Amino acid sequence: MSTKEKVALVTGGSKGLGKSIAQNLAASGVTVIINYYRDQEAADAVVQTIRQNGGQAFAIQADVTNEEEVDRLVGEAEQQAGRPVNIVVNNATGPQPEYSLEEVTWEDYLDQLLFTTKAPLLLTKAVIPSMKVEKWGRIINIGSEVVELGNAHFSNYVTAKSAVVGMTRSWASELGEHGITVNAVHPGFTPVERHGEVSDETKASYLSDVPLKRMGEPHDIANAVRFLSSEDASFITGQNISVNGGKTF
Ligand SMILES: NC(=O)c1ccc[n+]([C@@H]2O[C@H](COP(=O)([O-])OP(=O)(O)OC[C@H]3O[C@@H](n4cnc5c(N)ncnc54)[C@H](OP(=O)(O)O)[C@@H]3O)[C@@H](O)[C@H]2O)c1
Repeated sequence: MSTKEKVALVTGGSKGLGKSIAQNLAASGVTVIINYYRDQEAADAVVQTIRQNGGQAFAIQADVTNEEEVDRLVGEAEQQAGRPVNIVVNNATGPQPEYSLEEVTWEDYLDQLLFTTKAPLLLTKAVIPSMKVEKWGRIINIGSEVVELGNAHFSNYVTAKSAVVGMTRSWASELGEHGITVNAVHPGFTPVERHGEVSDETKASYLSDVPLKRMGEPHDIANAVRFLSSEDASFITGQNISVNGGKTF
């Protein structure tokens, strides 16, 4: 598959890690579909930056937790790009509230599973027919280091992100014979717009057991995603890769 033939769909590409992933993939020559939910202005700005740098990008609004919208998204993506989507980055996330076990409800668990399992499942089911025809595809799920850390008062999010580990392995086993690789990237705490100004105290506390002694930056995550989507990663599948300066092993 030549780079020119590659079309990546990045969910939640309007800001945060998704924005960096979209820009990084576009810089490597891949056509990128930036999916967003509410913030059209932010998504349009990402498209504009990519185009100004000579890349190809389109923004498409859709709620990735809704089956009809996912089908429309994948159809529109193919129309805009002129080719089927062959790289999917399941990155979108909603709010991530922290609750004690006394406070948390089953609905709070389901709210997180909508993003970590439902949306990736809907998207993957929508793109695999054309990936199988092309005998080439990349599915990259964005997990989190919380799976290893098991943070207290966050079981809704930790549980939902843990599902990404097994889901990635199972899909890799099933899709490998079709030339489709499935991997997960698990970021560490990587400050983005939604975190605002992170205090020095918070950073110092987080970094105390990070061997590389610095906070992650969005491009750290984006570099790993770009590698996994490239030909250089064609013999890597079913893997869960931590990108967190070594905080977890
Ligand atoms: N940043 C970190 O420290 C960190 C650490 C570990 C893991 N992660 C994981 O990395 C991923 C990205 O996180 P982030 O911090 O970059 O998030 P973020 O800045 O909050 O961005 C979330 C993105 O998801 C989109 N979105 C929200 N609801 C959506 C829906 N229903 N359908 C489609 N898109 C939707 C948003 O679009 P609009 O803005 O247009 O509404 C936005 O583009 C997530 O999976 C997160 O769990 C992040």
